[in-house]
Amino acid sequence: MSTAVQAVEAEHVSARYAQRVNPQWVRLLRLLEMDVRYERCVGAELFTSDGRRIVDFLSGYCVHNVGHNHPDVVEALRRELARCGPAMIQTHVADLAGELAERLCARAGGRLSKAFFASSGSEGVEAAIKFARAHTRRNGILAAEHAFHGLTCGALSLMSDEFWREGFGPLLPETKTIPFGSLGSLERELKGKQFAAFIVEPIQSEAGVRVPDADYLRNAESLCRRYGTLFVLDEVQTGMYRTGTFLAAHQFGVEPDMVVLAKALSGGLVPVGAVLMSDEVCDSVYSSLPRAFVHTSTFSENSLAMRAGLATLEVLEREALGQRATDTGKYLHEQLTAALREFEMVKEVRGLGLLMGIEFQAPKQIRLRIPYEAFGAIHGGMFGQILVMRLFRDFGFLTQVCGNNFMVLKVAPPLVVEQAQMDAFVAAVRSVVELANSPGAFWSEALGLARRAFRS
Ligand SMILES: Cc1ncc(COP(=O)(O)O)c(C=O)c1O
Repeated sequence: MSTAVQAVEAEHVSARYAQRVNPQWVRLLRLLEMDVRYERCVGAELFTSDGRRIVDFLSGYCVHNVGHNHPDVVEALRRELARCGPAMIQTHVADLAGELAERLCARAGGRLSKAFFASSGSEGVEAAIKFARAHTRRNGILAAEHAFHGLTCGALSLMSDEFWREGFGPLLPETKTIPFGSLGSLERELKGKQFAAFIVEPIQSEAGVRVPDADYLRNAESLCRRYGTLFVLDEVQTGMYRTGTFLAAHQFGVEPDMVVLAKALSGGLVPVGAVLMSDEVCDSVYSSLPRAFVHTSTFSENSLAMRAGLATLEVLEREALGQRATDTGKYLHEQLTAALREFEMVKEVRGLGLLMGIEFQAPKQIRLRIPYEAFGAIHGGMFGQILVMRLFRDFGFLTQVCGNNFMVLKVAPPLVVEQAQMDAFVAAVRSVVELANSPGAFWSEALGLARRAFRS
């Protein structure tokens, strides 16, 4: 197909999407020069219809741990479809669900011995809220400020950032957020014995890849036990070996009562989520024969999702991607730190395994501070979006800033990322930061972006 025809087709796809799905999304992608057509996605690489090769350093927010379209997961799904098995009968025992639950619980360990399957992270968080209430007979749910737990009403009730809540009316009552990392605030709230659960990400991803002090989670767990509150970890981003171990919980030495998994669980190919929990929590929901189906969902346990989960686990372990996340994460952290050390606008490179963030800060030099503040006044995300845009357009790297902290660039490539790809990424980030450090081109780009945003 000629380039001109491809361009017309690409335009048509976006125009139809804008007309029938979400025009503002298309507008935003165009502003950022990221409205491209991906034709083929393999491992950490994405190939576009106009012949570009993009290296993915976002992984769909930690979905693609095994890489895009891993051949073994694709093959397992193909076979599952070909066998014409019971995909969604609903009134049967789903054979693959038991097997996947067994494997997940074996890897999670501790108190986690049962699983409830869902189709997204938000749905998993909703289930955790209901199960905690049923188990404790309390209504309150406590969470940490700036967390991201999902955008359904219950999950959203646990998120403090007004951007996500505004316009959506009253959310769940008896929900509260406290500063992440503050044991004092946690104990003050738990003392009243009103809270069914404290739901927390072991590393706050969208809040800016915030890694807690080594003993925060252990102490939080003890406080929860003392006051009869369930200790629930949202490992939707951190789980499935993203930080090096199967769960981030394993690195912090905690034994949660429930863990929510999703995203990478099905190799990035089928929607799936899972809530792992103790026998006691499970029994308090499915407590009698009439309550055998009191919490369920149509697509939960569907055979494609379960098959994808089993195949993904096998790939993660056969290819030792946890160890690889630890080793490559250490390498990438060292390289980024060394490459960015001299720039005053880079505050810190931090993270665990291959979940990393580069935090930027306002420049001190007056020649940089003036444009920085001017563009910040237009939109707080402007600086980060120029970084993202330049990395994408000029260097072929897909990244994003954190959803609740625009000053942190998220670095989370598929766990199969190769050293040459990491080296090229480090060089690209350095070039873009160097550019931001000189008042010319970077800031005139920001001006162009601001103009386009207001014109269109
Ligand atoms: C930590 C965390 N929890 C829950 C969710 C919600 O997951 P989903 O988008 O699959 O509903 C997300 C989504 O980004 C997340 O990052």
